[in-house]
Amino acid sequence: MKKVKITGTGSCLPEKILTNRDLEKMVETSDEWITKRTGIKERRIAAEGEAASDLGCRAAEKAIKAAGVDAQEIDLIICATITPDMVFPATACLIQEKLGIEEAAAFDVEAACTGFITALSVAEGMLSTGNYNNALVVASEILSRITDWQDRSTCVLFGDGAGAAVLSCAEGETGILSTHLGASGAYWDLLSLPAGGSLRPASRETVDGRLHYMRMEGNKVFKIAVQKMAEGSRASLQKAGLGIEDIKIIVPHQANLRIIKALAKKLELDMEKIYVNIVGYGNMSAATTAVGLDEIIRKGLASEGDIIQLVAFGGGLTWGAATVRL
Ligand code: ACO
Repeated sequence: MKKVKITGTGSCLPEKILTNRDLEKMVETSDEWITKRTGIKERRIAAEGEAASDLGCRAAEKAIKAAGVDAQEIDLIICATITPDMVFPATACLIQEKLGIEEAAAFDVEAACTGFITALSVAEGMLSTGNYNNALVVASEILSRITDWQDRSTCVLFGDGAGAAVLSCAEGETGILSTHLGASGAYWDLLSLPAGGSLRPASRETVDGRLHYMRMEGNKVFKIAVQKMAEGSRASLQKAGLGIEDIKIIVPHQANLRIIKALAKKLELDMEKIYVNIVGYGNMSAATTAVGLDEIIRKGLASEGDIIQLVAFGGGLTWGAATVRL
């Protein structure tokens, strides 16, 4: 099996900022409640007509540049998203077309907020067999389009954004050391977008019932999230033969600052070793860990040789972790 390394990362955040103060004018909420209960101050919102493939493409261009590969050398594209441009074709195919890449295999994975880690794991498996040489893994979300802007319990939480990474076969010590993925379908109904699929196709009733927007039982998800992220983190470390003290920085999924703090406590980690950007972006589902990965590298919080970990949970319920030597 070949070793697989992350050779470049990129991210793209829309320009438009929606603040907690703006939300106060839209639903019955307050900057104080949102800040105290979630840690979020503002989030980015995609421009009208901007789709997941557009943000994904911009993040991918930066990742390809950072990796120093020719786009035509990419032979595998995987996009993680719950907000694809359309049900099909895959957003990965639309990104391929926008990047002008010819004939690379392209498909989407859907594991909600765990999507980027899942896509990394799939790409690593496919590259390690030697069947592919260079993979582009993109996580892109425009959650503002599936947010119910009349539901204060969810609309304050989410934002739009995209992150990307180029993965290549490599020699030596660096690379993806382990991944761990898990799911519990028993909890599928804690977090879902009920209509628009084969179970409840779009109809006047589904539109009137606001069933094309995300629904969530927040406090039930909260408790499971902390437990499963900690388990995922430990399982990935164990597979890599490492201890928590070997990790330079953890990039957790950013759903709620209280979840991140509870995770730090469970892992007995100082908050300084945990990357937090929820204040400016909110929860960007699959894109969150991808953007976080790009930011820790670009800010110099981790560099070549450092061991980092991505850890996430989300709808499904799904969870996962990836331990990586940069
Ligand atoms: N502004 C003001 N009050 C609010 C708001 C708001 N925006 N939202 C809810 N409230 C009220 C509720 O109505 C409730 O009032 P009540 O006590 O009078 O009934 C009170 O605040 C407390 O509500 P809870 O839902 O119990 O608040 P909680 O502390 O659990 O915070 C939150 C809610 C932020 C959603 C939290 O539960 C959470 O972050 N959960 C996890 C979310 C998550 O991680 N999702 C998974 C990833 S998403 C994905 O996969 C796409």
